[in-house]
Amino acid sequence: MGVVEDVSRAADRLSEADAVSLISHIDADGITSYSIISQALTREGIPVKPVFVRQLEPMTVPHIPKDDSLKVFTDLGSGQQGLLEEAGISPEQVVILDHHVSQPAPNGTEYFEVNSQLYGEEYHKCSAAGITYLVARRINPENTDLSKLSVVGNVGDMMARETGKLTGIAHWIAEDAEAHGHLKMVQGLNCYGLSTRALHLSLSNCDDPVIPGISGKPAKAIELLCRTGIYDSPSDSRTFEELSESEARKLASTVAEQMIANGETVERLFAEQYFFFDEAEKTPLRNASEYATMLNACGRWAKPAIGAAVCAGDRGTHYREAEHMLRHHRSMIRELCEYILETGVDIKGPIQTINIGDRYPDTIVGIGAGMALSKLNTNKPILVLCEVADEPDFLKASMRTYEKVLRRGVDLQDALCTAAAEFGGSGGGHNIAAGAYIPKGCEDDFIRRVSELIQAQLDTGSADC
Ligand code: C5P
Ligand code: C5P
Repeated sequence: MGVVEDVSRAADRLSEADAVSLISHIDADGITSYSIISQALTREGIPVKPVFVRQLEPMTVPHIPKDDSLKVFTDLGSGQQGLLEEAGISPEQVVILDHHVSQPAPNGTEYFEVNSQLYGEEYHKCSAAGITYLVARRINPENTDLSKLSVVGNVGDMMARETGKLTGIAHWIAEDAEAHGHLKMVQGLNCYGLSTRALHLSLSNCDDPVIPGISGKPAKAIELLCRTGIYDSPSDSRTFEELSESEARKLASTVAEQMIANGETVERLFAEQYFFFDEAEKTPLRNASEYATMLNACGRWAKPAIGAAVCAGDRGTHYREAEHMLRHHRSMIRELCEYILETGVDIKGPIQTINIGDRYPDTIVGIGAGMALSKLNTNKPILVLCEVADEPDFLKASMRTYEKVLRRGVDLQDALCTAAAEFGGSGGGHNIAAGAYIPKGCEDDFIRRVSELIQAQLDTGSADC
């Protein structure tokens, strides 16, 4: 069926439920998806039970309540229909709202899913928070305030990364949010921390694109900002958001000149930024990208409910806890990234890999892998292995790559799922970012197999060119 029919069918099934168990992923997209549906249903008087899981896998399936409630899966489920079938969960009890690659149940049980990968190009770069917003808006057109969370989920899942802006239906949602006064789109520098970090730190931390002479050099960034009169003095620490329009223009042209003088292109230097001016100044809630990091900090460190409370409007106790988690998350991600870069990766044919053991939780290694990759060979996908805290017999694999590598035929989800299944594990995700659990002991063979599969994808991709 088409998207309109599917969204409408999902909205009807949710609104007709007596009670809903909402099973969701623990990252920013999962938490915002949960919050969108949970708030929409609560407004209709339907009770919602939250069940956050790091992933739907054999260990977490028992967390799905065995009661009569409607089971709504957000930001997961499409890739795990086999597990639902194996657990004997009836399709009448299930609605899946997702964007991961769909993997049908092996014995043919047909679960109803609204999945952005099923409706053509316009929907491809739309995360689960986009799909859940469409459903929430269909439940009640007055739910437009939830568009803000949808933008946070989409940005958190990197839907704007390659293009420098949300596209297709995800952009329509941002426009919907702006039209209803919930956000403002601003063309700004493609740097992180525009609301909370001193401008020189935003600039010097920028690695996509690398700004010649500035990236990695905060002192040089201060010099540049003072020279152009944007900073009053070296102790100035205003954020991007605090610049006047003319200062922002001057900054953009200065940095662009710096790029061009060094033979670099400026296309990745600017990006559409999504600001929430109804939030307190200089807080991470002021823009979509920092808001998403705060939610990731909560979810990936086992406190998704704190993130959900912030999404529901808490700016007191839960918010303060979220701030604390954000500080911790940032410093651990930085440490993990440094660990990967200092230890170095092994080149295995077309991929690069590292096993980080039990040093960092499996819930953050994917993020670390993605950040480290920007400082490694970006033409080779990275595969990071690590231990899983409560599953001593399994290892977690996380892979990340870039769009330019996808264009050469690479599909990480396909390679990881195939290889994991051959060794008795399972995987899922997207062509650009995927993960898997595999039994301990097979890791060397598994890496060899993933490398072989990626090489075969490249060989076929080149032949297609
Ligand atoms: O899709 P899922 O939410 O489960 O993926 C989470 C992570 O995958 C994101 O935090 C991001 O690191 C990565 N990702 C990506 N590019 C995409 C989609 C996801 O890097 N297009
Ligand atoms: O865990 P990580 O961030 O590396 O996950 C990357 C992507 O792969 C995410 O979209 C995640 O939901 C997905 N994934 C999956 N099945 C797994 C592990 C990860 O679908 N077993």
